[in-house]
Amino acid sequence: MATLLLENIATLVTVRAPESSGARAPVMPHRAGSEMADIGVLHGVDVAIDGELIEWIGPHGERSFKGVERMDCGGRTVLPGFVDSHTHMVFAGDRSDEFARRLRGASYQEIAAAGGGILSTVRAVREASLEDVVRRGRALVGSAFRHGSTTIEVKSGYGLDTASEIKLLEAIRAIDEREPAELVATFLGAHDMPPEHRDDREAYVREIIAEMIPRVASDRLAVFCDVFSDTGYFTVEESERIYSAALEHGLRIKVHADELSSFGGAEMAARVGAISADHLLQISDEGIARMRESGVVATLLPGTAFFLNLPYAPARRMIGEGMAVALATDCNPGSNMCENMQMTLALACMGMRMTVEEAITASTLNGAAALGMSDRLGSIEVGKQADMAVFDVPDYPAIVYHYGVNQVSAVVKKGALFATA
Ligand code: NIG
Ligand code: FE
Repeated sequence: MATLLLENIATLVTVRAPESSGARAPVMPHRAGSEMADIGVLHGVDVAIDGELIEWIGPHGERSFKGVERMDCGGRTVLPGFVDSHTHMVFAGDRSDEFARRLRGASYQEIAAAGGGILSTVRAVREASLEDVVRRGRALVGSAFRHGSTTIEVKSGYGLDTASEIKLLEAIRAIDEREPAELVATFLGAHDMPPEHRDDREAYVREIIAEMIPRVASDRLAVFCDVFSDTGYFTVEESERIYSAALEHGLRIKVHADELSSFGGAEMAARVGAISADHLLQISDEGIARMRESGVVATLLPGTAFFLNLPYAPARRMIGEGMAVALATDCNPGSNMCENMQMTLALACMGMRMTVEEAITASTLNGAAALGMSDRLGSIEVGKQADMAVFDVPDYPAIVYHYGVNQVSAVVKKGALFATA
């Protein structure tokens, strides 16, 4: 029995998953390479929802539904809700002063070396109460939802001691329970070296492996484990030790790879069986080949390149080589203070020369694949979860063309309709 009807949709972008060949081992549905341009557009249709799931899609008026909640989507475009698969949206403190310093000439690395950067957010998180962190996080998550993100991955990594990392993961869980957006938590204890371990890195790596990972796993506080593997952060050797502990405890792997330097992060992601490698501004040719062979999703974060004024990741080369590319905001207080996926699509198209169709696939189905959730999320198909964003434009290119503003007027999450404008 239908409970909600989106009717008379001018443009429905389904991003339906490609038919599986059946011959290969089951993988999370995604679109790679040239398949990313195929977004399954329908015009003049109705979508009926039963509870949390999509029940029927067909020509407008072909079936009549009585006693259901209705929304007239005449002149509007409906997309799968964005899956923002890489963020650091839950934190405390404020780094707008650092941002201003960067604009006066200091680099991200210089600010970090002077005790700013990630460590300044760590100080703020350690001092903040759980309630404070939840309150701040809810504001950003709520705003992301009103911009069309229905599922959001959030990383810890601003605590850097067991108690503070747990505080962040508990905050993420509390926000997930209170906000309509669905949150997926990632443990990022290896985000930076905490100041008290500067002279004894090994002690901190051991704390991550022996204390944090077992605790995070047994309390089911995270699905993924991530490491910032880069010059000045965690070495490939340290990262691999952390990942093997994570795998032993049932966490899946994500990697902050090749962001600041060409570090072999992409190659490592392929070796350790990561579900995604993210950033990849400095990815090597070898890294592209290894990731493609192993089916690791390449999650690109063009907002970070924009915000730090760095060269963008080579998206055209990656798609040309047949990789599955996802897009995410990386929303965080230091390297991209922006929770808006519409802006991320615009930057992907204008900065990395992705097409609008590729950017839509990357921020819906492939984002869901980067979270291992694309069997349930990321496309508008019968039987999938009813997560959608309604845009006040008659066709999808306008979502990118008219950029820098919020074009979302309603969001459907698990079959519930939220007017957001
Ligand atoms: O994804 N690369 C590591 N971490 C974040 C930045 C975090 C911060 O500056 O607070 C990133 O860019
Ligand atoms: Fe990040």
